[in-house]
Amino acid sequence: MQIIRTIQALRTELSRVTSKGMGPIGFVPTMGYLHEGHGSLLERARMECGTVVLSIFVNPIQFGPGEDFETYPRDEARDLHIAEEKGVDIAFLPTMEEMYPQPVKTKVAVSELTTLLCGASRPGHFDGVTTVVNKLFNIVKPHYAYFGMKDAQQVAVIQQMVTDLNLEVQVIPCPLVREQDGLAMSSRNVYLSPEERRQALSLSQALSAALEGITKGSLRTAPEVQEHLRSVISKAPLAQIDYAEVLLFPQLQAVSDDATLSSLSETVILAVAVKFGKTRLIDNVLYQPK
Ligand code: PAJ
Repeated sequence: MQIIRTIQALRTELSRVTSKGMGPIGFVPTMGYLHEGHGSLLERARMECGTVVLSIFVNPIQFGPGEDFETYPRDEARDLHIAEEKGVDIAFLPTMEEMYPQPVKTKVAVSELTTLLCGASRPGHFDGVTTVVNKLFNIVKPHYAYFGMKDAQQVAVIQQMVTDLNLEVQVIPCPLVREQDGLAMSSRNVYLSPEERRQALSLSQALSAALEGITKGSLRTAPEVQEHLRSVISKAPLAQIDYAEVLLFPQLQAVSDDATLSSLSETVILAVAVKFGKTRLIDNVLYQPK
């Protein structure tokens, strides 16, 4: 595995790869502190691509004031070990100066999809994501880019950017990976105290109970499901609910209040964001009516 820290060195290496016919290039952008969620994207890229590029960069412009940019967990040595194990060919770890030699005056902003869910509680977050992902796409020029459904809204937003800007990359959404007890894997889970970690199970439990309710017919409409999600999660005393929503996916549009979810023809997302102390967790499930 090559460890590359500058854009120029990466470009040189990638032209060598391309000229030797070692494509397609698969790209997994991350902020590091890798876990099996990231690992699953790397494995999928390894299966489908001749060259796998992993980037690790904690992107300051997607964090709002008062968010956890400074304290975001970092462990380069451990990440590189995992990357090597997953068969990564190139680990790209740019410095801040390399990615932002001066403050960016150009931003990529996707409208509509970014105004709700996490976009509503984290203003500017998705502009930071689309801007850095666009920069990374221009640097890596991947054929395939792998994103996890843990961040389902991010998948929808990036897919929209790729479509709108005719970017020559195929976005591959990959399934959300959970801990054995159901908690969605996240680099931020390390922030949780043992008690918060226990109560954090309320997210995945609420989502699977809601899915079951929809399938069995006890929960019929979006407002009923939202109410159910809220009531299950609020049984955890430390949980502060940010949102619990039911929307069409990937359009992220409202489902009409009286529509029966099980008779829709489109995919629906049940998405929640909950704070435990300073830690904000997100989780979601898709419901595909038959
Ligand atoms: P990060 O949170 O490090 O996540 C990197 C990728 O791993 C994202 O596509 C995310 O959805 C995926 N991922 C995280 N947890 C997962 C899980 N439990 N199961 C499956 N996939 C999971 O997302 C970002 O970084 C940044 O916003 C980035 C796209 C790198 C731009 O800075």
